[in-house]
Amino acid sequence: MNRDVIIACDFAGKEQTLAFLDNFTEEKPYVKIGMELFYAAGPEIVREIKKRGHKIFLDLKLHDIPNTVKKSMAVLSSLDVDMCNLHAAGTIAMMEAALEGLTRPDGTRPLLIAVTQLTSTSQERMEQDLMIQAPIDEVVMHYAENAKKAGLDGVVCSPLEAGKVKEVCGSEFLTITPGVRFADGEKGDQVRVTTPARAREIGSDYIVVGRPITQAEDPVAAYRRCVKEFIG
Ligand code: C5P
Repeated sequence: MNRDVIIACDFAGKEQTLAFLDNFTEEKPYVKIGMELFYAAGPEIVREIKKRGHKIFLDLKLHDIPNTVKKSMAVLSSLDVDMCNLHAAGTIAMMEAALEGLTRPDGTRPLLIAVTQLTSTSQERMEQDLMIQAPIDEVVMHYAENAKKAGLDGVVCSPLEAGKVKEVCGSEFLTITPGVRFADGEKGDQVRVTTPARAREIGSDYIVVGRPITQAEDPVAAYRRCVKEFIG
C-alpha cells in the first residue's frame, strides 16, 4: 500500500509556493496544487514542481460533458501529474470518458479520484438546492460506488468515512482524506477532523494536510511529525 502525506499548497502564487518548498532539502513531499494556484500560475507551476522531483495531486475537480472532460484530462495527463480528480456528480459516463482521456499511449495514467458530495454541502442544502432527498452518507457511498464502476481509483472523503468507503468499495479502493489535525493543534475552519494516527487506523491511504504544515513555525518538522504518525 502506498500510504503518503500530501501537503495542500494553498498559496496565492508561484513565488510563495516555491519558497515554501525550498524549506524541504532532504525529502520531496507529495504536493497538492488546487484551483487557486493553478489559475494564478498556470501549467508552468506544475512543470516546475515536477522538475524538482515532487509527486503532484492536481486538484481541479473537473465537471463538464464527457467529451470536454476527456480532452481536458488528456492535457492534464501530458503534464505528468500523479493524481487528479473530478466530480462524481458528472455521471458514470463522464468518469469513464475522463479515464479514457487520461490514459497515455503507453497505457500509463495518473490516479483518478472522485469528489462525492463536497463537505461544505449540508443535508439541507442538498435537499433544497440540488433536490436530492436521500441521506447524505448514502449519497456519498452511492457516488463512491459509481466511481468504482467507472474504473476510478478512489474518492476524496472525510477520514471518518474512509472505513465505510472501504467496506462498500473494497480495500483496494483509495481514500484521500483532508480534515487532518494534530491532537494539540488548531482546527481552523475544519469541523470533523481527526489526527494522522487515527486516519491511519480508520483506513486512509493518503492524508491531505494544509495549514498544520504550511502555517507551522517549522514546516519541515510538522511534515515529519505527520509522516511519523501516519506512516510510522
Ligand atoms: O489547511 P487544511 O489542512 O484544512 O487543508 C485541507 C485541504 O484539503 C485544502 O486544500 C482544502 O481545500 C482541501 N479539502 C478539504 N475538504 C474537502 C475537500 C478538499 O479540506 N472535502
